[in-house]
Amino acid sequence: MSRYIINGGHRIYGRTKIQGSKNSVLPILAATVLVRGTSVITNCPEITDVDATIKILRHLGCRVTREKNTVIVDSSVIEKSDIPDDLMREMRSSVVFLGAIIGRTGKASLSTPGGCEIGLRPIDLHLDAIQRFGVNIHEEYAKIEFEAVKPLEGVNIALSFPSVGATENIILTACTAKGTTVITNAAREPEISDLADYLNSCGARISGTGEGTIIIEGVSELHPVQYKVIPDRIVAATYMAAAAMTHGKITLSGVVPAHISPVMPVFEEAGCDISISSDGLTLTAPPYLRSVKTIRTMPYPGFPTDMQAQIMAMTTVCHGTSVVIETIFESRYKHVSELLRFGAKIRADGRMAVVEGVNSLTGASVIASDLRGGASLVLAGLAAQGTTVVDDIRYILRGYENMSGVLSSLGCDIVIEERNSADG
Ligand code: UD1
Repeated sequence: MSRYIINGGHRIYGRTKIQGSKNSVLPILAATVLVRGTSVITNCPEITDVDATIKILRHLGCRVTREKNTVIVDSSVIEKSDIPDDLMREMRSSVVFLGAIIGRTGKASLSTPGGCEIGLRPIDLHLDAIQRFGVNIHEEYAKIEFEAVKPLEGVNIALSFPSVGATENIILTACTAKGTTVITNAAREPEISDLADYLNSCGARISGTGEGTIIIEGVSELHPVQYKVIPDRIVAATYMAAAAMTHGKITLSGVVPAHISPVMPVFEEAGCDISISSDGLTLTAPPYLRSVKTIRTMPYPGFPTDMQAQIMAMTTVCHGTSVVIETIFESRYKHVSELLRFGAKIRADGRMAVVEGVNSLTGASVIASDLRGGASLVLAGLAAQGTTVVDDIRYILRGYENMSGVLSSLGCDIVIEERNSADG
């Protein structure tokens, strides 16, 4: 089990290039299953979720090679249509392979993804939608079997909630189905547009992404291309929060400012200055951060749930009281009890947390129990006086490429300590 050792209190200063988006690269790599031939996907971050995705592609029969940030997938031959339980458990979002596998082979088999570190994550919306394409679903114990009884046919689907994963699965299923599929109340996240841009460059006909209604006109086949994944808006915003909390200044290159716009008002309310130039996006923090009134997580273009924990860490050192309301996931406050160990003052009840800013945090020994919550503990450690140990960083490595290297290059004192499990 690896851990981060952080000596806090160093001001972040400098520039960094933002990695490719985790939430884009996973569905795009899954989508290569629909393409007969060799796809070249660039700007893939070196994170363990990409490792897990590659394992699934190889299990399905794809030949995959990886050269740093480029993943080359030859999906000329697909031999299997199942995702084994261990791979499904390794990464809950592997459910996004469902649409691609059914689209390519007409059938699929997977184990139920079950709960996860941020609460129960049902897939009922995925299943309802897939069924509408004429796919029979048979659920037994923890296994779900899918079989198309006739060639897939386009349908109209109104989602009761704009689920990111369900929208992606519908797009993937509809791409090569016969006729037109219309998704209303579709998710509008930039990662959905990235998936559609990739598929369209392969010959798909998808329009309306970024708006509530997506139209997919089925095509008979997709051809392989080279495609570059968009930058990760959550990683960018995480480093912005780190700079804000350490009263520093950071310039992020390679970001799409429009994707960061849902979080910008929060930083500005806290007193940070944000400027955008051809050089990138620069955040300059004030000597004292002000509290932010209410942060409510919402589907895009609202404030992202994936930034809730990191922003909460920031508000722990803002002057005054801030309120955080988590509306997307039912149990996404695991970081609260760990933030308290730094001397933060937070009261969480149900989906609401009230944060009273303190003058300073003190280094602590904490455990990362999910990806973004883990990142929030690193941020607290960077801002705290003294030494922080963030234990069990495997969740953080699922989404952040070389976080300690990036933060060290920006002036922070953070190292990874590798430990054998026998070390305790
Ligand atoms: C994706 C992101 C994740 C982000 C989330 C919300 C990836 C790999 N992950 O996750 O980082 O936090 O979007 O922005 O892209 N729900 C149902 N039934 C379903 C599907 C979802 O009830 O069939 C509920 C979930 O339990 C959750 C909410 O809808 O409460 C949002 O889930 P969804 O948008 O599907 O998130 P994911 O695609 O899992």
